[in-house]
Parts: sequence; C-alpha cells; structure tokens
Amino acid sequence: MTAPATAKTLDAAALHRLFDQAHTTHTFTDEPVSPDLIAEAYQHMRWAPTAFNSQPLRLTLLTPGAKREEVVEHFIEANRAKTLAAPLTIIAAYAPDWHEHMELLAPQREGARESFAAKPQMRETVGRQSGSIQVGYLLLGLRAVGLEVGPMTGLNPEGVDSVIHTENGWKTLVAINVGHAPNPEDEAAIRPRGGRLEFSQAAQVL
Ligand SMILES: Cc1cc2nc3c(=O)[nH]c(=O)nc-3n(C[C@H](O)[C@H](O)[C@H](O)COP(=O)(O)O)c2cc1C
Repeated sequence: MTAPATAKTLDAAALHRLFDQAHTTHTFTDEPVSPDLIAEAYQHMRWAPTAFNSQPLRLTLLTPGAKREEVVEHFIEANRAKTLAAPLTIIAAYAPDWHEHMELLAPQREGARESFAAKPQMRETVGRQSGSIQVGYLLLGLRAVGLEVGPMTGLNPEGVDSVIHTENGWKTLVAINVGHAPNPEDEAAIRPRGGRLEFSQAAQVL
C-alpha cells in the first residue's frame, strides 16, 4: 500500500534515504564530521514529541582524542576499535533535571518546575522514555543531513557517566558513531540486512 503523493508526503528519494536504504554503519571513511553538521541535525530533531515537552536528551560530541579513549574503556570489546576509528562519536544521554527548563518548554503549565522537582522517580522515567524517543529522531536527523550512523548500547552507562557526566548528572542512553560514508575498504562496514517483521506480525488492529 503506497500513500498518495500530497504536500504532506516525502518523495521516494527522501524515504529511501531515511528508511528503506538506510543501513547501520560500523566503519567510515576518514572525512571529519563537523559539530556544525550535528547542530544542523539537532535543529530538525528538536521538534520530536516528548512527554510534557520535556526534551530531556543531552549530547556530548567526542572528537578523536584522549577523552574519547577514556570513554571507550567502558565499551564492550566489540565496540572499541570501531569507535576509536570513527570520525565522531556522540554520547546521547538524558538529564534527570529536565524540569529546570519548564518555564521555557511549557510556560502554560504554571508551577510545573516546582511540582516536578518533588518527583525525582517520575523525572527519571520520563527522562529515559522521552530521551530514547529523541534518540530515534536524532538518528533520522543525522541521516537527513547526509550522515551515516552506528548506534551502540554495548557499553557500561555508569562507566561512561563517570568520565563525562560528573558535573551535570546526565545519564548515558546510547553511543552513536557518525561518519560521511561507509569505509569502502572494509567489507564489514555494513553488515548483511537482517530480516524485518511484516506489519501483520508487529501490529494488531482491534
Ligand atoms: C539501541 C541500539 C543499540 C545497538 N547496539 C549495538 C552495539 O552495541 N554494537 C553493534 O555493533 N551494533 C549495535 N546496534 C546496531 C544494530 O545491530 C543494527 O542497527 C541492526 O541490526 C539493524 O541493522 P541495519 O541498519 O544494517 O539493518 C545497535 C542499534 C541500536 C538501535
């Protein structure tokens, strides 16, 4: 079933780029990735829906160097070498104190900052859920600006936090290696496609 082409639908090239021809990438060409390009992806990603418009996602951009080497110590072995070789690594985390921005994010909710301040457990839950939704949008945003991505949760989040989040209390959700193109010299830069569930296997209509 194909949606009728209207001003609200993406053209086939955009759909291929974002979805059906997009592939997780494990190794990249050496071309550096400018933080400006990540900022451009962010400008799109930030319109993602989040609970209470909380926008708890926070990003740390790790360029090649000593800090990234320290962070990678907390990755599983299989994720280390490819991360050290990537042009850029993003650590996506959530801020448990997202309520501090409530006056900007939801000015119509009077007293929200104070009332959420008293609910740390709820802020953790919302931070993790809505932050993860924002990660999905970030992956799309990065692809939309022409980048390839390799997301990873094979890491010890508390270990990563101990290196880069001691000042701000952010909590690691996922690491994302980013580059301009798959490394053409590495056969394993892109892995063979795994299967995908059919709509009928993944959905029920009641
Ligand atoms: C949340 C998340 C965690 C992942 N963790 C890892 C990981 O730790 N190491 C790894 O090599 N790939 C990891 N992947 C990559 C997935 O295996 C890959 O996206 C999936 O198999 C689809 O591959 P495809 O895009 O080539 O079809 C992760 C992907 C996601 C979205």
